[in-house]
Amino acid sequence: MKFFIDTANVEEIKKGIAMGLVDGVTTNPSLLSKEKKDPDAVIKEILSVVDGPVSLEVIATDAEGMCGEARKLAALGPNAVIKIPMTEEGIKAVRTLSLEGIKTNVTLIFQPVQALIAAKAGAAYVSPFIGRLDDISEKGMGIVEDICLIFANYGFETEVIVASIRNPVHVLEAALLGADIATIPFNVLKQLMNHPLTNIGIERFLKDWQSIKK
Ligand code: E4P
Repeated sequence: MKFFIDTANVEEIKKGIAMGLVDGVTTNPSLLSKEKKDPDAVIKEILSVVDGPVSLEVIATDAEGMCGEARKLAALGPNAVIKIPMTEEGIKAVRTLSLEGIKTNVTLIFQPVQALIAAKAGAAYVSPFIGRLDDISEKGMGIVEDICLIFANYGFETEVIVASIRNPVHVLEAALLGADIATIPFNVLKQLMNHPLTNIGIERFLKDWQSIKK
C-alpha cells in the first residue's frame, strides 16, 4: 500500500520523507492557502523534494481552461499529476490530457460510478473523499469497497487514492480493502505510530534497566 501525504507544507513532507513514509503528495487549493506563501513557489519546492507523484489541482472549471493549466503544471516536473474535479468538463479534460500522456487524478468523487467514468476517460488516479461522506452520515469507506471491486471486475489500471482521511481507522479500513493508496494528513500519519501500551512498555523497560544499572 502506498502512503501519500495530504499537505502543502514542505516541512511536514520532509519529516515524512525522513521516515520513508512519503510515496507521493496530494495538494489542493485549500491546503495551499493554509501555507500563506506564493503557491507557485510552494508547488515548485514540493515537486523538487518529492520523488513520487505530486497532485496539483486546476482552478479552471471549463475543459479548455483545465487543459491549459494542466499543461503548464505538468511542465514543472515529471512527477506532476493534475488534479481535475469530477464534472462533465473535467472528464473531457481528463480524456484530452490522457491522450497527451499527462497523468490525472480525478478528485471530489463521492459515488462509485463517478470513479468508473473517470477510469474510462483515462484517469491515472481517482480520489474518493471518505471523511466528507462520513461527515454527512454516509459510510465513506463503502464507496472505496465498491470502486475497488469495479476496477478489479474490469481490470482498470487506475489507482484508488483514499482521500479526506480523518483518523487512523480510515487508514486501517483502506488497507483491509486493498486500496492502492491512502493520502494521509500529517497529524494522522503521526497518530498511526502511537499506542499507549508502547509508551508504557518503553517506560517500564527504562525503569527496569535503571534498577540493574545501580
Ligand atoms: C485529497 O486529495 C484531498 O486533498 C483531501 O484529502 C481532502 O480532505 P478534506 O476533506 O479533509 O479537506
